[in-house]
Amino acid sequence: MRALIAGNWKMHGLAASRCEVAALADKMKASAPADCDVLICPPATLVAAFAKDFSGAAIQFGGQDCHAVPSGAHTGDISAEMFADAGAAFVIVGHSERRADHGESDAEVRLKAEAVLRAGLTPIICVGESEAERKAGTALDVVGAQLERSLPETSADFVIAYEPVWAIGTGLTPTLADIAEMHGFIRSNTRKDVRILYGGSVKPGNATEILAIDNVNGALVGGASLKADDFYPIVMAGGKQ
Ligand code: 13P
Repeated sequence: MRALIAGNWKMHGLAASRCEVAALADKMKASAPADCDVLICPPATLVAAFAKDFSGAAIQFGGQDCHAVPSGAHTGDISAEMFADAGAAFVIVGHSERRADHGESDAEVRLKAEAVLRAGLTPIICVGESEAERKAGTALDVVGAQLERSLPETSADFVIAYEPVWAIGTGLTPTLADIAEMHGFIRSNTRKDVRILYGGSVKPGNATEILAIDNVNGALVGGASLKADDFYPIVMAGGKQ
């Protein structure tokens, strides 16, 4: 299966951040894994410009969230069709920061994932347990319930990202055995051809060992995707699956 190395810039990046994409494109032009898709999800304000400026590069662009309907009276929201129009290929839905900051439920996440498919794009559907849930030994149950309620019923392409909430932006990661257990569990709950990404404190120093785990088909990278010098070694690690 082709790996997917995806960068989630979150609420970071101005027009000047184009230089980081340019630096990554240059590095990838010199050497890039043939069997790995590379995606950057910048703030929505930058998607159209990046998709246009880097149309010749082996980097795709995506949104970080979308509204479930194509258009309407929803001030400040952006639809999946608008991301498609801007040149996006993917949209992340159900990130734990959306679930926590905006109270998004599994049912809403499923509607958003269906919206992304409706627009002809690929959703990256995020799931993951909290620290308390991991400590209580309920991580598999929590993720199992999220999958059951937030995955679309479709034969179309979608991606699942397992992001333990306590590993996001903390420098902490689960043990390799815990990642293997969770990804094996997610695989048993979905199709064989669905890519399952790991996310949460992926760095150049741990990417190779994480990406070598069975059923880890790529990474969703936050902080380390902002600088080409950090993201490029993770992209290279994606080619070594
Ligand atoms: P960090 O890589 O900064 O931990 O963020 C992970 C994440 O939330 C990606 O969506």
